[in-house]
Amino acid sequence: MRERRPVTDRTAENRRRPLATLAALLPYLWPRGETELRVRVAAALACLLLAKLVNVTVPLFYKGAVDALTPQGAGAAIALPVALVVGYGLVRVLAQAFGELRDTIFAKVAVRAVRRIARETFEHLHRLSLRFHLERRTGGLSRAIERGMEGTSFLLNLLLFSIVPTMLEIGLVTAILWGLYDIEFALATIATIAVYVAFTTTVSEWRVKFRREKNERDSEANGRAIDSLLNYETVKYFGNEAMEARRYDASLALYERASLRTQASLSFLNVGQGLIIATGLTVMMLLAGSRVVAGTMTVGDFVLVNAYLLQLYVPLNALGFVYRNLRQSLIDLEQLFALLDVAVDVRDRPGAPPLPDGPGHLAFRGVSFAYDPRRPILRDVSFEAPPGARIAIVGPSGAGKSTVARLLFRFYDAGEGAIEIEGRDVRAVTQASVRAAIGVVPQDTVLFNDTIFYNIAYGRPEASREEVEEAARLAQLHDFIARLPDGYATQVGERGLKLSGGEKQRVAIARVILKRPRILLFDEATSALDTNTEREIQAALDRVAAGHTTIVIAHRLSTVVDADEILVLEAGRIIERGRHGELVARDGLYAGMWRRQSEAARLADELARVAAESPPPG
Ligand SMILES: Nc1ncnc2c1ncn2[C@@H]1O[C@H](COP(=O)(O)OP(=O)(O)O)[C@@H](O)[C@H]1O
Ligand SMILES: [Mg+2]
Repeated sequence: MRERRPVTDRTAENRRRPLATLAALLPYLWPRGETELRVRVAAALACLLLAKLVNVTVPLFYKGAVDALTPQGAGAAIALPVALVVGYGLVRVLAQAFGELRDTIFAKVAVRAVRRIARETFEHLHRLSLRFHLERRTGGLSRAIERGMEGTSFLLNLLLFSIVPTMLEIGLVTAILWGLYDIEFALATIATIAVYVAFTTTVSEWRVKFRREKNERDSEANGRAIDSLLNYETVKYFGNEAMEARRYDASLALYERASLRTQASLSFLNVGQGLIIATGLTVMMLLAGSRVVAGTMTVGDFVLVNAYLLQLYVPLNALGFVYRNLRQSLIDLEQLFALLDVAVDVRDRPGAPPLPDGPGHLAFRGVSFAYDPRRPILRDVSFEAPPGARIAIVGPSGAGKSTVARLLFRFYDAGEGAIEIEGRDVRAVTQASVRAAIGVVPQDTVLFNDTIFYNIAYGRPEASREEVEEAARLAQLHDFIARLPDGYATQVGERGLKLSGGEKQRVAIARVILKRPRILLFDEATSALDTNTEREIQAALDRVAAGHTTIVIAHRLSTVVDADEILVLEAGRIIERGRHGELVARDGLYAGMWRRQSEAARLADELARVAAESPPPG
């Protein structure tokens, strides 16, 4: 049984350990084979170190100046400590300059990592099977990628520039306080920080679930909005705008609730952090003040302690912010990486060779298949198409005809039996080579929101303009395009909605002509069209198909009378097979369908004739 893993709604299962997520990021911080980026990381770290070293000297200059300005005894002259004051200004600027330099140098590393992760995710999404894509929600997916990209950039910066340097700064300041005065100051500092860190991590962990909920609601609301907008016309047909708005708003309401909880818990965290730091500060100032009174410390020392504490306060506060955001970014990234973890269920065997060249010999051997193990769709389907043959598959809707096509194209792997092209099992060769050999004109064609030219040329993007126009001519499309005001540069709209069904279908045919595959597959390519258009397109298809192995899935039997073999599929089984004449003579399901359709066609012709002959009433 194959594993099924929809993505956005199953986060619980895909939840990674935070450390695993962080570890997954490390290769992006030290990218293999990218010397420039590695040099940048090293240089940024050097700047960081310099900035911090310079920064801890700032209070020393300050203290020196204060002491120099404080009268030491009665009548002692005060000299203006110009060097100290200027030095104070200078080191401040230097510290800031190193910080900015660091950010500038590192930016490329972070941006490049975001780009790589986004591209890898995109490629992975295209590798995932049709099964995955039928189950996902595009809106939720794109939000997960977006958030993951933001999270990546944020995390990389945090990792390198907040956590490491804050730790460094705390260590330096503690050491200086200890060295200059006594251990009590160092202990008080460490105690404050320990309580602070413990509080922050505990509360942040508790808050994680709010954030996760917020993300899930966000994805859900987005998915609904996009689904609804994609169904714009359907919404209008049934006048359901209000219902759509209600459904969207219901998702938003849940999002709102989750956001409020996130905010309230954040405020709690902030207040707690502030309280801890204020307490620590007060205790240390009391310690220092009592020493000044006792005469063991100068006013400059008092100022120095205060300056260091305030200097620590900034990064500590940042640490709280960082930890919070770290958790949030990790949660955002989790979804992205969960996406990358989704197993590709149709994959090439290791070392699979490409499909060898050949004339287009095709065979299904005892193929059975089910999308869902509880409901078999195809049962023991066997047929063979020698090179150049035309095989038709007919049968009621839902019989499994398109499924045969999807299996041939290897959107899914057959459960039992084998599908062979040129005598090779399609599972033993690369997917890309199988797909390159088959040209599909699908039941309904969806186009890219670009020009007609782009959409036709999609069949072989390197084709020349002449080749594209030639393909359009063969598909009976060129004259139509020539009449458009913008010609080949006409925009087709989202999903190709600005073209009619027949026009879209002809674009699909032109694409396949450009692709030049050895096997052709028409899945009810003309069933959505009126009889006249159908005849035109059928003629185009016949021209394209000449000399190629062709599978025609058809609803209207008139299009398959000349097939080499007709397979009648019902409920996933081939129940009749043979040439048109044989099947009609057998008087089974096919003969019945044929009679009904010819009768309908005859009636339609009759009606048209009568309408043409009799003058309109009145
Ligand atoms: N992705 C899918 N997951 C589950 N069932 C599916 C899926 N695609 C199609 N089916 C079901 O498989 C049956 C055969 O579908 P299909 O091959 O498209 O029929 P048709 O003969 O009309 O082309 C239908 O009953 C359909 O509901
Ligand atoms: Mg179908």
